[in-house]
Amino acid sequence: PELQSKDLEGVAQYIASGKCKNIFIMAGAGISRAAGIPDFRSPGGLYETLRKSDVELPRPLDIFTLSYFKKNPKPFYRVMSELYGGTYRPTLTHSFIRLLEERRLLNTCWTQNVDDLERLAGVSSWRLVQAHGSLDSQHCTTCHAKLDDRAMKQAVVSGEVPLCAKPGCKGFVKPDVVMFGEALPSKFWLNIPFMWRADLLIIVGTSLAVPPFSQLADRVPVNCPRVVINTEPVSLWAVGARESDVKVVGDCDETVRRLAQLMGGDWEERLDALWQG
Ligand code: OAD
Repeated sequence: PELQSKDLEGVAQYIASGKCKNIFIMAGAGISRAAGIPDFRSPGGLYETLRKSDVELPRPLDIFTLSYFKKNPKPFYRVMSELYGGTYRPTLTHSFIRLLEERRLLNTCWTQNVDDLERLAGVSSWRLVQAHGSLDSQHCTTCHAKLDDRAMKQAVVSGEVPLCAKPGCKGFVKPDVVMFGEALPSKFWLNIPFMWRADLLIIVGTSLAVPPFSQLADRVPVNCPRVVINTEPVSLWAVGARESDVKVVGDCDETVRRLAQLMGGDWEERLDALWQG
């Protein structure tokens, strides 16, 4: 299906037409920034902060690399202590994804984020693929025993490396997030074949810098419109740009509000109601 216009108006019309029944989302750290969680690659993002501050790290990316973590988990936990200590609320964009599900338009939300805010916004587990795992559970890197959430939080927030609670082990405990050097969850691979069903792909708040996640964009049918929402222009060149791609340069929360307004009816009202909880 061709969009009547390659902009938000065209996208809203398409969704309203009833021909768009399966929307897929690909989300990244940008959608959680308004919740107070920094992204990775923007100026002021995590990698810049680490480059400037963490003398222990040879390269900022090492913080999320398994081999480095096993040698020295301290920098990872120093960064994580803030996340574990804080309470974060879903953003308007998270609530928009939930609204799509409520309106039976969401097929799958693929996210690279480990903050679990999609779930907190009410997106169902079976509609959610957390491609890089999540911070909501953790295991020992030596014996794979689980550590309970309270013990985990207590250790991380007080600046300690969480250690395995199993007698005699004392291995480092790692949240079930995917580090560089680790396999992606099987749910990621199992869901890829279903992307042929996509009527619309919304790529939001991601630099698309990390494969294999970025390559999902190429899995939707050639006639499926792809909308990229980002505060800066993001190139789909690496995954294969298409003539029909729609680029919306702007803040994701403002953009989804605008889309809800264009949808008309009670979309915006319902969006705000979901967001305000
Ligand atoms: P990045 O930090 O690479 O990209 C975030 C993108 O969001 C940037 O392109 C920003 O321009 C955009 N952005 C920021 N604020 C926004 C806003 N309010 N509205 C719209 N866009 C906004 O984060 P990801 O693409 O998620 O992996 O990074 C992918 C992976 O790289 C992460 O999952 C992590 C990291 O290394 C692992 O740790 C395995």
